[in-house]
Amino acid sequence: VSNTQTQKPLQGRTVTLTAGPTREAVDPVRYISNHSSGKMGYALAEAARDAGARVNLISGPVQIQAPEGVNLVQVNSACDMLEASLQHLPDTDIFIAAAAVADYRPDNAADQKMKKQPGQNELVLRLVQNPDIVATIARHEQRPFTVGFAAETQDVENYAISKLMRKNLDMIIANDVSRSDIGFNSDQNAVTVLWKQAGSADPATPDIGRYQPDQASKTTLARQLITQISDHFLHSNT
Ligand code: CTP
Ligand code: CA
Repeated sequence: VSNTQTQKPLQGRTVTLTAGPTREAVDPVRYISNHSSGKMGYALAEAARDAGARVNLISGPVQIQAPEGVNLVQVNSACDMLEASLQHLPDTDIFIAAAAVADYRPDNAADQKMKKQPGQNELVLRLVQNPDIVATIARHEQRPFTVGFAAETQDVENYAISKLMRKNLDMIIANDVSRSDIGFNSDQNAVTVLWKQAGSADPATPDIGRYQPDQASKTTLARQLITQISDHFLHSNT
């Protein structure tokens, strides 16, 4: 008996997502981080679950509850997030990088609480670049279908397309974070989904496919994005 009519699009597939901010230790009691709420990543995890997928949600510290039925993996730093992502890679079909990963971390976090020095009016922290998690996954020999985000404040599409190419992604979701009314910490979001068109004449400068859903709640957008992602994933797989 065929159940193709009731089968969900991501049934039997595993989706691994990163979400939320990362925290980069300065010393045992301090860190560098950002204002990511994790809402978009958590909404995507829920939508992927509802599409039938098994879901690993690799998350930095956030104030929201993980959706029921997803495998929550809590991490702090970018390095820990990379390690957890690689750990789940062998059974991942689709990797979605929704985390706001700190680009830099303090070099040599102090192992004791740093003390204020008398007369020291300035403190210089040396930062080193974190590994690029989504680019590492997208270049891995067990490369899953890989989707990234691009948070930009200007020239959004062009920067997003260059990230799509540079990081070897299948799709990128571009996000204008200059608008204070939407994005980062809000419940609403407006995004453009971009991908390389199959069969472009020159693979170095492929034609770019575009999908621009209306501005909507992160929950509504997440459902539309998971539909887009699973359509492209299923096509890339046949
Ligand atoms: N990303 C990642 N690991 C990093 C930095 C970013 O996996 N160390 C992922 C994000 O989760 C997102 C995508 O890369 O899916 C783009 O993140 P963004 O911050 O926009 O790009 P960067 O490459 O860090 O470039 P920049 O911040 O300089 O614009
Ligand atoms: Ca960045």
